Amino acid sequence: MLQRTLCLIKPDAVSRKLSGAILDLIQKNGLSVVGMKMLRLSRAGAEGFYAVHRERPFFDSLTASMSSGPIVAAVLEGEDAIARYRKLMGATNPANAEEGSIRKLYALDVEANSVHGSDAPETAAVEIAYFFSSLELVNSGQ
Ligand code: RTP
Ligand code: MG
Repeated sequence: MLQRTLCLIKPDAVSRKLSGAILDLIQKNGLSVVGMKMLRLSRAGAEGFYAVHRERPFFDSLTASMSSGPIVAAVLEGEDAIARYRKLMGATNPANAEEGSIRKLYALDVEANSVHGSDAPETAAVEIAYFFSSLELVNSGQ
């Protein structure tokens, strides 16, 4: 199934100038970029994005780090894009991430883990709309 998913390149990776290398891996994996921007989230913006985690012990630290510097937000498109991009990202904790995955290659620790990816079609739709209007996305396949 042709799907779209949200990719965020997190501040730890943008600050280490890894955005190009990560986008290269994504595109070499056969996923297409159909929208992209660089921005810096406010603390409130990071709290809104990660609202599902607000009761978790790492919420304050996560939202502080996600608002600590610029991020790159990209919408990826491809067959089974959600699962394929999650596999390419690797496990949340880089200590458990597969060889060749983005987090194995670049993540610093379980929190500064370089990338975000949507985990289901419903969350992908909400997360894409958090960052992009439909006018900002390539109308691919037409
Ligand atoms: P993401 O949502 O960022 O794509 O990552 P994920 O699905 O692999 O992991 P999730 O459970 O949704 O957690 C969201 C982000 O919170 C940080 N985290 N810190 N200190 C900790 O134990 C811990 N656990 C998670 C990570 O930045 C994780 O990506
Ligand atoms: Mg998640």
